[in-house]
Amino acid sequence: MALVALKLINGSRLALHPTHIPSNSRTIRAFSAIMSPPSTAVVYDLHGPPDTVTRVINLPPVEMKANDVCVKMLAAPINPSDINRIEGVYPVRPEVPAVGGYEGVGEVHSVGNAVQGLSPGDWVIPSPPSSGTWQTYVVKDQSVWHKINKEVPMEYAATVTVNPLTALRMLEDFVSLKAGDSVVQNGATSIVGQCIIQLAKIRSIHSINIIRDRAGSDESKEKLKRLGADEVFSESQLEVKNVKSLLANLPEPALGFNCVGGNAATLVLKFLRQGGTMVTYGGMSKKPITVSTSSFIFKDLSLRGFWLQKLMGIDKAKESRKLIDYLLDLARQEKLKYEMEVVPFDNFHIALNKALGKQGSQPKQVIKF
Ligand SMILES: NC(=O)c1ccc[n+]([C@@H]2O[C@H](COP(=O)([O-])OP(=O)(O)OC[C@H]3O[C@@H](n4cnc5c(N)ncnc54)[C@H](OP(=O)(O)O)[C@@H]3O)[C@@H](O)[C@H]2O)c1
Repeated sequence: MALVALKLINGSRLALHPTHIPSNSRTIRAFSAIMSPPSTAVVYDLHGPPDTVTRVINLPPVEMKANDVCVKMLAAPINPSDINRIEGVYPVRPEVPAVGGYEGVGEVHSVGNAVQGLSPGDWVIPSPPSSGTWQTYVVKDQSVWHKINKEVPMEYAATVTVNPLTALRMLEDFVSLKAGDSVVQNGATSIVGQCIIQLAKIRSIHSINIIRDRAGSDESKEKLKRLGADEVFSESQLEVKNVKSLLANLPEPALGFNCVGGNAATLVLKFLRQGGTMVTYGGMSKKPITVSTSSFIFKDLSLRGFWLQKLMGIDKAKESRKLIDYLLDLARQEKLKYEMEVVPFDNFHIALNKALGKQGSQPKQVIKF
């Protein structure tokens, strides 16, 4: 069956049968439209387990409007929130059928005739991020695209918007920290965690880090220390009466970050000083947070939440783009690093299985198109 037209759903494009298109629109398109190249995309028609509901398909060319930019995608990561969107459990998600992915980097392939400031060959990221980055060509309005420095390593450009930006905003938005202060976090091996360690270090702020007990955790501790972590503990090391006795000369942290929940969140709370704040931004263990009564009465702890999406409206794009440029510059100078595995698009489902944790702990999977 020939695929001759496209329907745009939240920026992704899907093939329609020729009989779905009015005959006059077929005629006009044939003579006047600028079309993108065909695209290869990771699509899901239903919500469910990502390894069963996703498939790689070819999509036909899409018609470009005057303000559209066609971007040849170079790389895009598989983040936990991408998985949650496909599962249908993320609060904001595209209507299905949809193309997966939310952030990434690409090279401008072609521009509509009203586009200004972007030319073929430029590197761009969708900012604010938007659905549908797991495909070889993406067509979106010029306002979506942020031009970046091409000297930044591709995999950092592809991953800067969600996790490093979260780390930066969380360090700056909740508690006013000064040089010499300390922060505590769990899930320290995550990209967010690795960025918190380095961004804190740049500000002369100490980090106390908690990781889970698993094969390879000693090696992970060493890696995090090389990134600048002051202390790294596995959860089992913290089964002591007074965790603060393990801190030697570090000040008690006023700010903590939790992306795990369960016991790992309780440990963050135990480290916090009187009046401290714990910010929850993820729930990797899927376990609830339990807070003792005394944490409120005697320590007056505050529990807050962070969701990047709230800071990603088009009205806030200018501010976010400035922070993204700052982070990309750190990456270019190798002052911000994190572990990634770059995987060819042909191996998408192998990478997806790794991202789903089916082979134990794995570095961030980044698809190279
Ligand atoms: N709220 C927001 O706006 C926002 C923004 C960005 C990210 N996030 C959240 O931040 C978290 C980290 O994201 P990321 O992309 O940086 O992560 P990532 O690099 O993909 O790493 C995943 C992390 O989760 C840990 N983990 C996986 N399964 C776990 C389990 N069952 N119990 C405990 N820990 C587990 C891993 O530990 P090991 O190294 O031991 O495998 C690793 O530290 C996620 O929850 C994500 O959804 C939230």
